[in-house]
Amino acid sequence: MNLNVIILAAGLGTRMKSDIPKVLHPLCGTPMIQYVIDTVKKLRPEEIVTVINKDHKPLKELLKDKTSIAIQKKALGTADALRTGIRTIKKRAPILVINGDTPLVRLETLKRFIKLHRAEQSPISILSFITEAPSSYGRIIRDKAGDVIAIREQIDATPEERKIKEVNSGIYIIEPEALELLRFIKKNIKKGEYFLTDIVSIGVRRGLKVRAYPVAEEEDLLGINTRKELSIASAIMRKRINEGFMLEGVTIINPENTYIEKDVRIGRDTVIYPGVHIEGKSVIGDRCIIYQNVRISNSIIGNLVVIKDSSVIEESVIKDGSQIGPFAHLRPGTCIEKNVKIGNFVEVKKSSIGEGTKAMHLTYIGDAEIGRNVNVGAGTITCNYDGFKKYKTIIEDDVFIGSDTQLVAPVRIKQGAYIGAGSTITKDVPEHSLALSRTPQRHIPEWAKKHRQKAKKG
Ligand code: UD1
Ligand code: CA
Repeated sequence: MNLNVIILAAGLGTRMKSDIPKVLHPLCGTPMIQYVIDTVKKLRPEEIVTVINKDHKPLKELLKDKTSIAIQKKALGTADALRTGIRTIKKRAPILVINGDTPLVRLETLKRFIKLHRAEQSPISILSFITEAPSSYGRIIRDKAGDVIAIREQIDATPEERKIKEVNSGIYIIEPEALELLRFIKKNIKKGEYFLTDIVSIGVRRGLKVRAYPVAEEEDLLGINTRKELSIASAIMRKRINEGFMLEGVTIINPENTYIEKDVRIGRDTVIYPGVHIEGKSVIGDRCIIYQNVRISNSIIGNLVVIKDSSVIEESVIKDGSQIGPFAHLRPGTCIEKNVKIGNFVEVKKSSIGEGTKAMHLTYIGDAEIGRNVNVGAGTITCNYDGFKKYKTIIEDDVFIGSDTQLVAPVRIKQGAYIGAGSTITKDVPEHSLALSRTPQRHIPEWAKKHRQKAKKG
C-alpha cells in the first residue's frame, strides 16, 4: 500500500509509574506495541518506523527485525516524535501516524479510515471516536458548519470544550505536503512539549482541509496511559480472544474469568473452567477438560486430557488420554505419554513417564525416565540431588514401587521388579526381583499394657 506508518512510542509513560517502557506492558501476555505492529503490518505499508527513547533498550530489542527504529533524543512531545520518525522514512508517501499505546485498534478500522481519507483527499485526516469519558484525550473542535478547526488537549480546553465527547484517537493520516506544518508547532507552555495535535489549527489557518472520522468504537481506540486503562484494555482483549475460541468450538464456562493468551491453540469440544490461565505458545487438543485454577504455560497437550483443579503445567508435553491433578505440578522438560495418571500433590520435573503409568499421590519425580505400566506408590521420592549435582533415576516397564520409597539416584530399577514399601533404594534392582530395605519389624509382647499401667501410677 502506498503508505508509511510511524508508531510513536518514545514517551516516558510517567502515568504508568513503572520502570518498564509503557508500550512493553503486556495485554493478555503480549506487549501492547506488538499488537499495533501486527495490525499495521497487515496493511502492507512501504515502511514502518517506530519512534523510541534511547534508554528503552528492551523495546529496541523487541523491535529488532520488525520495524525500522528512530530514536527521539528527548521526550519533547508527539510532534517532535513524528519529526524524528519522518527523518528515517525513505519513500515519499502519506503517513499513517499511530500511538504505540493504542493496541486494541483493528485492521478493519484502519482500512475504513484509510478509505475515507482517500475518498475525501484532505491533507490531514484524524480517526476520532465518541466517549463518555473524554478527559484523557484531545477534543475535536468543530465550527458551526461542523468542520474540524482544532484538537484541544485537556489542559488547554475551556470548560465548554471539555464537554465535547468526540476525541482524537492519536491515529492520523498526513499527506507529505502537510508535513512541513510540523515546524510551525510551538512548545506548549504548560506541558513543555510540542503537541502534534496543534498541526490541525495551523493547517486550518493556512486553508488546509482537515477531516475527523468518528468511525470506530471506543473499544477499538482506547489509549493506555495508566494501569487502570491497562486493565480495561486487557479485559477487552481477553473478551476478543475468548470469543474467538468459543466460535471455534471451545467451551469456556466463564469467559470473564478465563485468561488465554493470543498465540494459544485449543481444539474442539475442549471445556475450560473458570480461573484457568493458558500462556505462551501452548497447544491443547480436542475434548480435553481443564478444571478451575489451572495454569498451563508453553505446553503441548493432546486429546482427551483431563487436568484437574489447581494444577500447574510448565513447558511440558502431555499425550492423549492422560489425567493430571488435582494439585499437580509438571515442571519444564516433562513428557507424559498416553493414558498416564498423575494425581494429587505430585511434582514431576524433567522426566518422561511411559504409557499407562500411575503416580497418584504425594510424589516427587525429578530427572527420571519411567517406563510403561509402572505403579509409583504414594510418597515415592526420587532423590536426584546430592547438593552439588543432579542424577538420573531409571525405572523400566511394569515395575511396582511400594509407598514411601526413596530412590537414591543414580539408580535403575529393572523391568518387572517390585520395591517393598518404605524402602530406601541405593543400588540397581535386578529385573523381576523384590527389593526391600527396611529394618525388620519386631514385637515386644505385653509392652503396651505395662506402659499404660506405669503411666497410670504416675
Ligand atoms: C495523545 C494526544 C491526544 C489523543 C491521545 C490518544 C497529543 C498532544 N495528544 O495524548 O490528543 O487524544 O493521544 O490516545 O498528541 N510519545 C513520543 N514522544 C514524546 C511523547 C509521546 O513518542 O515525546 C508517544 C508515546 O509513547 C505515546 C504517544 O506518543 O505512544 C502518545 O503520547 P501520550 O503521552 O500517551 O499522549 P496522550 O496524553 O495520550
Ligand atoms: Ca496515550
